Amino acid sequence: MATASGLGTRGEGPREIITIDPVTGEKMVTMGDLTFPPRKVWMKTFGCQMNYHDSDRIAAHLKDLNFTKTEELDEADMVLFNTCAVRDLSNNKFYSQLGEIKHAKKKKNGLVVGIGGCVAQTEGKELVKKYQHLDFAFGTDVIDTINDMVFRVYAGDSKFTINSWDRSENFSIETKVSADSPQAFVNIIKGCNKYCTYCIVPYTRGKERSRLMAEVVEDVRKLVKYQGIQEVTLLGQNVNSYGKENGETLAMLITELDKIDGLELIRYTTSHPYDVSDELIAVHGTSKKLSKHLHLPVQSGSATVLERMHREYTPEHYLGLLEKLRAAQPEIVLSTDIIAGFVNETEEEHQDTLDLLSKAQFDFIYSYTYSPRAKTRADKMEDLLPVDVKGARLRQIQAHQLDIQNKIHQTMIGKTYRMLVDSDGHMGGTKKWKGRTNCNRIVHFVPETIEQDYKWHWVDVKITSATALSCQGELVKDLGKTAPSLSQSLLQ
Ligand code: SAH
Ligand code: SF4
Ligand code: F3S
Repeated sequence: MATASGLGTRGEGPREIITIDPVTGEKMVTMGDLTFPPRKVWMKTFGCQMNYHDSDRIAAHLKDLNFTKTEELDEADMVLFNTCAVRDLSNNKFYSQLGEIKHAKKKKNGLVVGIGGCVAQTEGKELVKKYQHLDFAFGTDVIDTINDMVFRVYAGDSKFTINSWDRSENFSIETKVSADSPQAFVNIIKGCNKYCTYCIVPYTRGKERSRLMAEVVEDVRKLVKYQGIQEVTLLGQNVNSYGKENGETLAMLITELDKIDGLELIRYTTSHPYDVSDELIAVHGTSKKLSKHLHLPVQSGSATVLERMHREYTPEHYLGLLEKLRAAQPEIVLSTDIIAGFVNETEEEHQDTLDLLSKAQFDFIYSYTYSPRAKTRADKMEDLLPVDVKGARLRQIQAHQLDIQNKIHQTMIGKTYRMLVDSDGHMGGTKKWKGRTNCNRIVHFVPETIEQDYKWHWVDVKITSATALSCQGELVKDLGKTAPSLSQSLLQ
């Protein structure tokens, strides 16, 4: 029997049955009266970590239906897009690729094309109608029924959209990880209740629902024990709002996860300043395993803009939170998101954002120009600010921040950091390995010998040079693949 059960809510339809062909040794899957020979799926994901995490989950389900992933479009039997609607840019990239797939479908008879994710949630029906070559669309809350949908298409019933919300009380799943990595994303809350005036996410991901703490702790315990996971990133659109409906909190969850032997590092993303409680700040000081990095989106440094965005805090409150976090955890590294040129932003309001960046001293920022989204409240406000002014302000924000972070990074030179090495590559003709420190800084280093494989090794690296965007280090110590109880180390 396949192992798709327990991953989430599945429909009442037929289940996958796996057999091995005694002659060819090939895996065959039957579901209902259909046989699924080995097939390939080509997937393209846009958007946030949640979407990448969802794509992994989709791929894990599809394995049970005999699909393996391919990077080559020419080999694909099925094409799946996991879409993002947060800004025009990601939207446009998806539409141009969807157009290109039309030719692939003409070339290959029987190619199945599906779209999932945030665009599919809100516009799936119209898109399936509009694009002849699109077979089906599915929303963000039904990904655990992907095999039922694919079955339906191969059974000859295509051109449908499923975007219903999961109405069950509890959000209950089990994490799936891809084979060889000691890092896992663990989804603990879905949806968002904040309704910031510019943001489409509450409309594409629905209302907030959290998993029960006992379930998450057991899930992580199993990941550590049976899958060799050493680092988890707790995921949610507004992760520090976790547990509200169940009388539980993110701080309580981190305190419980801290007790799991073999788990070395806990990260969480993304947070809203409104939900940063004193209890959570305290945990940043007391937890042995919590990352010394926090991404805390501020969006703007202007009180009036924040009000128009419905962010529910002032710049002073935000800066106060940073102060408290730094008092609780002096080594904490902070980053943020900024939206440049929000509706009718004045020059003075823009200057307030530059001023906040100077005061906050972020390690890095993600910044974007404001992009109006249909359905949101901001889209209904008349915006008199010209697009080129928005662009110019974005460039000013980015230049100002690069200057700040370059100075911060210079202070890292000479210090030693412990990190998990995740990949290698060539930079300027030299082979280098790369990892992320506990506080989320990316460091490259040159191996001692070209043959040495450092993938998923813990290493200590001493920073030798740094720019605004990256740090170079030299290897001090290779600690091997087993976690050296990072939590007891004083290294950042
Ligand atoms: N839940 C997270 C963010 C999710 S969206 C939070 O509240 O912080 C990620 C980022 O995209 C946001 O922080 C914001 O900076 C940006 N963003 C969202 N909607 C946008 C829009 N309409 N235009 C430009 N940037 C936007
Ligand atoms: Fe969007 Fe605001 Fe929710 Fe973040 S908190 S996902 S910006 S509505
Ligand atoms: Fe995009 Fe949806 Fe994530 S809109 S940012 S993929 S929640």
